[in-house]
Amino acid sequence: MSYTVENRARYVEELKAYLRIPSISTLSENKPDICRAAEFTAAQLRQAGMRNVELMDGEGNPLVYGEWLDAPGKPTLLFYGHYDVQPPDPLSEWVSPPFEPEIRGENIYARGAADDKGLTLILVKAVEALMATRGKLPVNVKFLIEGEEESGGEHISSYVASKPPRIKADAAVICDTEMFAPELPTLCIGLRGIVYGELTVKGAKQDLHSGVYGGAAPNPMMAVAEILTALKDRDGHILIPGFTDKVQPPAPAEKEAWARLPFDEQKYREEEMGASALTGEPEYTLFERLWARPTLEVHGIRGGFIGEGAKTVIPAQAVVKLSARLVADQEPDEAVKQIQKAVAAACPRGVTAEFKLLHGAAPSLINPDNRFIKAAADAMTEVFGKETVYVRSGGSIPITGLFDQHLGIPSVMMGFGLPDDNLHAPNEKLFLPNFYRGIDAVARYLDIVGEG
Ligand code: BES
Ligand code: MN
Ligand code: MN
Repeated sequence: MSYTVENRARYVEELKAYLRIPSISTLSENKPDICRAAEFTAAQLRQAGMRNVELMDGEGNPLVYGEWLDAPGKPTLLFYGHYDVQPPDPLSEWVSPPFEPEIRGENIYARGAADDKGLTLILVKAVEALMATRGKLPVNVKFLIEGEEESGGEHISSYVASKPPRIKADAAVICDTEMFAPELPTLCIGLRGIVYGELTVKGAKQDLHSGVYGGAAPNPMMAVAEILTALKDRDGHILIPGFTDKVQPPAPAEKEAWARLPFDEQKYREEEMGASALTGEPEYTLFERLWARPTLEVHGIRGGFIGEGAKTVIPAQAVVKLSARLVADQEPDEAVKQIQKAVAAACPRGVTAEFKLLHGAAPSLINPDNRFIKAAADAMTEVFGKETVYVRSGGSIPITGLFDQHLGIPSVMMGFGLPDDNLHAPNEKLFLPNFYRGIDAVARYLDIVGEG
């Protein structure tokens, strides 16, 4: 579309302004920035010609809503993205500061570039381009952009669960996933769920001298090690009783399609990951391990002495940030109970161990056999000039399962990030050609859906 080509420089300037707002949802001190990012999102929707744009306040961060419903008889699409971002640390690893967007080569670097401000703006700009050039859209559109996806998405979850007529739609379009490879148009049809919590292990009433008491006192840090190794073995098998019972293996045809994806495992390991070996359950292929098997991971361990030099102390307490990714048909509530039971069973003498849930989300697996996903595949194939591939992703977007569960609509996950975009990591970036082509692909998508 010539309009979208002519307006590229402006799109990038607006994206930069969006990215300068440090809307970190996991840190309470960034609440004012969250509100600024919500306002910015709303202003973008108004500029695109959306009506009834407003911030919807609730228990958590505001939801941003906007709509255009003047295409009677045509389907209604519910566009989803998130304006919140992950914390930027470790700061010293960033080549340019995380909230001072910088273009190097064909990439724009900043926290939130690909996750998810850049992709959210793709949806807005596609709609803006159609409104600006035609004064109308080929379908009805509703935007629901949230500000706490990175911290569990509680507000949007309770909102969607209340089934408000306002967000009634025929399909959801989620722009928060990645393409499998550069230039390769990709639809994501499966996401893992998650349960994220804190494991607190307590021993003596206070820290103790490790010489005076060592040999008699319980050590919560050692207990953590014991408990964790009881939950997962060296080959990556989760040992929690019953945990994998409901796991559905992928259909043979889907597994075969994964095996045909263009993929260089050595490059993945050495360049993208930078690790000396891949790990995980040896009896499953890499894509099964990433997309169709649950995980158990430790994110951080706090407690004891970690200052400079040596201090001989037996810590009184240790806290572990722990999560498990879930796949269909595992259920978050049941997974939490299973973890709690396994923790209790593995807890050594002299300490208490308690796993408390911080947030959870169900896995989602989408049947691609519907016109909204087919139209997306056609639009992407046309704009990128290559056959669209279907993949799953190991990440989680909590709302996806709820669109299906409460609204009964399929989610179309059209993503334009890339595997090396450094999501949640230092030097997050967005490949600008994907930003531009994404806008064209979504605009084309609306036309195809509108044609029926
Ligand atoms: N956009 C990601 C999820 C994602 C990443 C999907 C790559 C597909 C490909 C999302 O913002 C995210 O990071 N989600 C969190 C959810 C959690 C905090 C509840 C995740 O997966 O850790
Ligand atoms: Mn995201
Ligand atoms: Mn994220």
